[in-house]
Parts: sequence; structure tokens; C-alpha cells
Amino acid sequence: MQLVVKPPPFLAGSLRPPGDKSISHRAAIIGALAEGTTVIEGFLEGADCLSTLRCLKELGVDIEGPHEGRVVVRGKGMGSLQEPETILDAGNSGTTMRLLLGVLAGQPYYSVITGDASLRRRPMGRVTRPLTAMGARIWGRNDGELAPLSIRGGNLQPLTYTMPVASAQVKSALLLAGLFAPGETVIIEPCRSRDHSERLLKAAGAAIKVEGLAVRIAGRKPLRPLTISVPGDISAAAFFLVAGCIHPRATITIKNVNLNPTRTGILDVLKAMGGQITVTPLGESGGEPVGDIRVTSSSLRGVEIGGEVIPRLIDEIPVLTVAAALAKGETVIRDAAELRVKESDRITMVARELERMGANIQARPDGFLIKGLKGGSLQGTVVDSHGDHRLGMALAVAALVAEGPTVIKGSECMAISYPQFATDLALLGVEVREEE
Ligand code: S3P
Repeated sequence: MQLVVKPPPFLAGSLRPPGDKSISHRAAIIGALAEGTTVIEGFLEGADCLSTLRCLKELGVDIEGPHEGRVVVRGKGMGSLQEPETILDAGNSGTTMRLLLGVLAGQPYYSVITGDASLRRRPMGRVTRPLTAMGARIWGRNDGELAPLSIRGGNLQPLTYTMPVASAQVKSALLLAGLFAPGETVIIEPCRSRDHSERLLKAAGAAIKVEGLAVRIAGRKPLRPLTISVPGDISAAAFFLVAGCIHPRATITIKNVNLNPTRTGILDVLKAMGGQITVTPLGESGGEPVGDIRVTSSSLRGVEIGGEVIPRLIDEIPVLTVAAALAKGETVIRDAAELRVKESDRITMVARELERMGANIQARPDGFLIKGLKGGSLQGTVVDSHGDHRLGMALAVAALVAEGPTVIKGSECMAISYPQFATDLALLGVEVREEE
């Protein structure tokens, strides 16, 4: 499938982004381990979160939905999961595979998990090594580094582990495994990554404590079911935040966005670039701060970003490069080598595709050097998502200010995290067409 995007004369209106992807996965998994019925509203019906539901069903969990964002998970407790009869398929979803590996490590049976070609290339040793240290036996290609992975869990011992990379997926996998170990598991992060697992596990009654960069969890305690309304995903909102900033005639309101401080790096950076962004906090939803965000046309300037902000905006870097490509002056993005092991090698692919549109962007080992085109403009042309949802949507945002239409090949991948993306673009007045 391909998406044809025509640059619109203006961008105006309001939209509600889909439910947060990270929270949707976690609410379903924790609900499956709890004793009783978890009700999730606002669940992201993207392919990744559907992969998590499918795998949980293979493990014998009774799940109803999603119906219009509502999912009911009838959890029967920590010991209730069953040996899957077939291979678990995580599709394109790193979160599904890594978090479920943590759960499977705690199960006294054999299971196999795999995913699509992209996921089978992504590093899993960062999860399988510490899980092996807890007592799980895990086999995979390249010495347990690559899926398909088979795992024989059970009899876990608690672990104190200092993570070499900041990864919420690794942290969450180990916290979930820690639920099955007697005593206290302690995970120490190099810098803070998203903390949705900590919040949800706490809401479910887990014995979990956060002390600086350390998270402690005491295992073998029953979990309570959750009732949760998932806030909107700031990683989805980010496409419209950048669109509003770079388009010369834009006023966009994005409603009910998750404002968890471990996720709001994109707001900090866009504001530092001169983005006209106003946030109206609206209290809490699902144990997370939420609010509405209004963005209007802005005169952006280049920035340097690196260090602790990177995990707080890692998924937003593809679209942030679009903002930088149109800003005044240079932008340097460093400390982001993790981008090379996402759904695609995002450093190579983002640079390659934006260059096709006329951006002055150079790939570096751990990020980008971007010389803003202030005054100049991007050219509409044919570009490719390379099966990477966030790259595809970032290119669609670039298309909004390009000269002439842009064709984004492989646009079906946008449904991984944002099935309504093209519809929401149209809602703001953009002429978009999906073609086979
Ligand atoms: C996620 C964590 C991040 C992020 C991914 C979702 C999560 O990955 O890029 O899209 O839900 O925990 P890492 O843990 O690999 O940094």
C-alpha cells in the first residue's frame, strides 16, 4: 500500500491520538497475571498491541475485545498461564517479545516466541542474558541474541542488575520476571526510561519501590486487577506537534495526551527550538498525567540534543529530524545509537529518505547532523517507509510542507501504532489518499 499526501494550504482542527502503546501492552499483560477482571478503556488497537493480546490468548488468558478500545482481561493469577500449544508470534512488536520473555521466564514450561523479519533482527540478548542469570533457560540464534527464542522458565531467583543500556523494555521484562522470584529483584538504569510498568504494577498492588535510578520489586505477591483508561499516546501526538510547528498556517489541538515526564522530551525540545506549544494539564488518567496540547505555526531554530533527554523522546526522533530539517541553523542529535536497532535502522533510513526530499541531513554513528533549510523547502517525491511505522509517518509530516505531492511506499505499517493516522490527517484538512 502507498499513501499519497498533498501539502495543504492550512492545517486546522483538533484530534484525539490513539491510546498509549506502551501502556496498552502493559495493562493487558499485568491484567493477565492479576486475580480478577481487568477493564481497559482506550486500548490501542494497533497491530503491536493486538500481537500482545494474541500471545496472551495462546497462553490461555480469557480476553474479550478490543471493541472500540475496550478490552476485558479475566486474569486468574500469577500461576494461571498455560504452556502454549504453538509458537507465540510477536509480529513487529519489540515490546511484546521483550515483556513476554520476562513473563515466560517465570513459567515452569516450554515456549517459543518469534516475530516478523524486522523483529528477528533486533537484539534480544539484553533481555535473555539477565533472565538466564535469574535461572531461565533460553535458546536462540546467535547465542540467544536473536528470535526465534525458546524458553524453559520457572524456579527464578531474584537478581540485582545494572542495565548497560537505558531500555524500558528490558527493565519491564526483568520487573515482570521479578514477580515470579522469591525475594527482591533490583534493576538499576543508566538513566531514566519510561516508567509505565512501575506505575501499573504499583496500581496492581505489587511490592515495588523506585529509589532514584533503582527499581525494587518483591516477588510472589498476588496482583489486583486494574480498571484503566489509557491516555493518548504522545508518540502519536508528536507527528501533529511537528506538523503544527513546521506548517506556515497551522492551529492544531491534540486532546487527552499522556504527559508522563519520562515521555515528554519532545515537548521540551520543540519548545527549545521555538515551537509555539501550549499545554493545558487536565489531571490524571490511568495513573498518568494527561492534558491537551495546542500547537501553532512556529519559526524553529536548530538545537543540540543528547544525554538524558534521549530515552524521553527516542521514538520521536524520526519526526524531530523533520522539524530540524526545516529549522534555521544546525541540529545535532547524539547518544541515540539505539535508533539503529529499532523497527529499522532509523539513523540510516531516516537520513536516506529525508535526503530524497531535499533535506540536508547526515547520518552519524549515534545520531544526525542536520542543516536546516530555513528559506528553502522540501520536494515532494516517492519515498519508502521501509516497513517502519514511525519513519512512514515522519515522511508524511515532511510531505505537508513539501513542494508537490509525496508518495510514501509501504504505508500499511502505520497501522502498527496509529491505524487512524491518515484519517486524522484528513481531519485537519489534508488531502490524503491510500492506494493499493
Ligand atoms: C518501549 C520502550 C522503548 C521504545 C519502544 C517502546 C516500551 O524501547 O522505543 O517503542 O514500551 O517499553 P527500548 O526499551 O528498546 O528503549
